Amino acid sequence: DTIDWTPDMAEKGGYDHFMLKEIHEEPDAVKKTIMEVSDIKKVVEKFPKFNRICFVACGTSYHASMIGKYLFEGIVGIPTDVILASEFEFSAGALDEKTLVIFISQSGETADTLKALRTANEKAETLAIVNVLGSTATREADHVLYTRAGPEIGVAATKTYVSQLTCIYLLAICMGQNEKLLEEIHKIPEYMKNALEKEDQIKDIAKKYKDAKDFFFIGRGFSYPTAMEGALKLKEITYIHGEGYAAGELKHGPLALIEDNVPVVAVVPPGESHDRTLGNVQEVKARGASVIALGSCNDAVLRSESNDIIEFEDEIRDLWSPLPYVVPLQLLSYYMSVERGIDPDKPKNLAKCVTVE
Ligand code: G6P
Repeated sequence: DTIDWTPDMAEKGGYDHFMLKEIHEEPDAVKKTIMEVSDIKKVVEKFPKFNRICFVACGTSYHASMIGKYLFEGIVGIPTDVILASEFEFSAGALDEKTLVIFISQSGETADTLKALRTANEKAETLAIVNVLGSTATREADHVLYTRAGPEIGVAATKTYVSQLTCIYLLAICMGQNEKLLEEIHKIPEYMKNALEKEDQIKDIAKKYKDAKDFFFIGRGFSYPTAMEGALKLKEITYIHGEGYAAGELKHGPLALIEDNVPVVAVVPPGESHDRTLGNVQEVKARGASVIALGSCNDAVLRSESNDIIEFEDEIRDLWSPLPYVVPLQLLSYYMSVERGIDPDKPKNLAKCVTVE
């Protein structure tokens, strides 16, 4: 008899790395977070009337917060700011009791985030959206909501990001009392499962680009934070320079860096932003870029402009795209990391939880 399972492999559920396991757990993490909607409603019932929302976070949690701005302004109609926790003391002057400051943190222990929370607690109402039960942020904020991703071991956040997004969507939906969106969110785990099925195609794309020196990620509106998160994952676990850019800003600088074979990942779901981002795809293509596009399976023009295209159901419009569309970007960085001989679970110089300012 041979033993082909070690305790380490058992912990990873048969996957080569925690990160891959955690990406595969995403549809379930989203589903479990949706099941917490009654807790979200209870918190919302306690809220006074706010006239400003302010998100505060670091890293991947900051990208979830960026999407929160689009959601709160679009669904609830409240002016919303997004501030990096390390910048909070310099840029959050006008807080008062009519402001809700929302802290997004996987660990609930990030030093910059806790410092900002302590400052905000003195002036405004605070809410922490956290994955780790009983962490410091959950003890200090006025209100707490939990994301239900379960423990995340990989240093680069994956399933906790999509759980944070789910919680932020639900919060905006409950505050905006939008029944239609509350119904639609139940379809998202299925779309994410389908996105996971692109794994073999993504593995091939990863092999093709593993030696690239620079990568650009572009998107507009809801796809801008997705582009930022795609670039962050790349930097964290492949050590390749990746820049996330608002597609409309390309012409104000980065276009000068686009030349033959520079990979540009374009996030182009159907919806309001589609045509303009497609225009940017054509611009970079004309300058020789290799385009890796994410878009609708019915988007023939996008397909014809791309070197590679990762396709999604046509009904996923820009508002919902951040959840399913981030999945292939996480997988792309994961497989590039493995191709480059890096351990994606333990990238150099980075920590899961940063407890210094
Ligand atoms: C570290 C982790 C990131 C995380 C960030 C914020 O940099 O490596 O994955 O996004 O901290 O952490 P938090 O626990 O506050 O979400």
